[in-house]
Amino acid sequence: HQTPLIFNPSLLNLQPNIPIQFIWPDEQKPSIDVPELDVPLIDLRNFLSDTDSTLEATRLISKACSKHGFFLVVNHGVREELISDAHDYMGRFFDLPFPEKQRVQRKPDESCGYASSFTSRFSTKLPWKETFSFPFSNNKNRSKTVQDYFCDALGHGFEPFGKVYQKYCEAMSSLSLMIMELLGLSLGVSRDYFREFFEENDSIMRLNYYPPCQKPDLTLGTGPHCDPTSLTILHQDHVNGLQVFVENQWQSIRPNPKAFVVNIGDTFMALSNNRYKSCLHRAVVNRESERKSLAFFLCPKKDRVVKPPGELLDRITPRKYPDFTWSVFLEFTQKHYRADMNTLQAFS
Ligand code: SIN
Ligand code: FE2
Repeated sequence: HQTPLIFNPSLLNLQPNIPIQFIWPDEQKPSIDVPELDVPLIDLRNFLSDTDSTLEATRLISKACSKHGFFLVVNHGVREELISDAHDYMGRFFDLPFPEKQRVQRKPDESCGYASSFTSRFSTKLPWKETFSFPFSNNKNRSKTVQDYFCDALGHGFEPFGKVYQKYCEAMSSLSLMIMELLGLSLGVSRDYFREFFEENDSIMRLNYYPPCQKPDLTLGTGPHCDPTSLTILHQDHVNGLQVFVENQWQSIRPNPKAFVVNIGDTFMALSNNRYKSCLHRAVVNRESERKSLAFFLCPKKDRVVKPPGELLDRITPRKYPDFTWSVFLEFTQKHYRADMNTLQAFS
């Protein structure tokens, strides 16, 4: 039977002693004091209208993605008010009483729903966070909107939440298609190739809430992982926490509320025939403040076959990964997730 309350980090954050399940092994214990990652800031204001700035953007993207796959975008055209609404409603969601959130508990092997560490109370290395994930699809024959998802899962009172996140996901989907054009150009593939590939997508949106923690040097908000998805567009609030493992050390990406953090996931790494990297990253927590982030995970349409375009194949660079569909790979990552290596390598 249940002992749920004790494992919800939000309810634990005032206790000086945290359950042993949250304490990470010595070699993985975090440090908050790490160098800052050299990550390019891509200005999308003159996106594709000005040849010089497009060339500069593709050069910076190519350099960053060949090395670690992380870059920032500014002047992205997403309204500030929409971003602040999305943060606002995330606060309201996580403020709900625990039993109400538990009604939409994510089941093992599923990628959507509410998760706190209660979901895996018998495991170790528990993350110090709560998340809520839901599907976004812009397929012509999609079965549900984000609004439908919120109303079905939580009730009609949650329609305003669904409205905000439907708009936010639409903005993220458009932004990711713009970034796909830049990625295509930067790889020497046509500008439309990846845009077309992701025009219809079965994506995932995740709200991350990290409560303050009295022992931030023993715990992790999100453990080290590579994103199995194609492209992640993250908006972090003003609190530090995101770290990327580059050149054998953890390096931080400082929050910039005007920017989105973009990173390549395993599926795009396969589409680029391994030219662009899906890099290990994690999120640390701190004693003073809560931290919130919004993550949009762009994924291909479920049954679309993932394979690199002909331009990225030649005799010197043979195929690195086999063909796969997103639905098969997603199922694999849920069953055989590997924190010590890229899951795509284990899959291949
Ligand atoms: C993640 O990579 O899953 C979370 C990143 C963050 O919250 O900064
Ligand atoms: Fe991630």
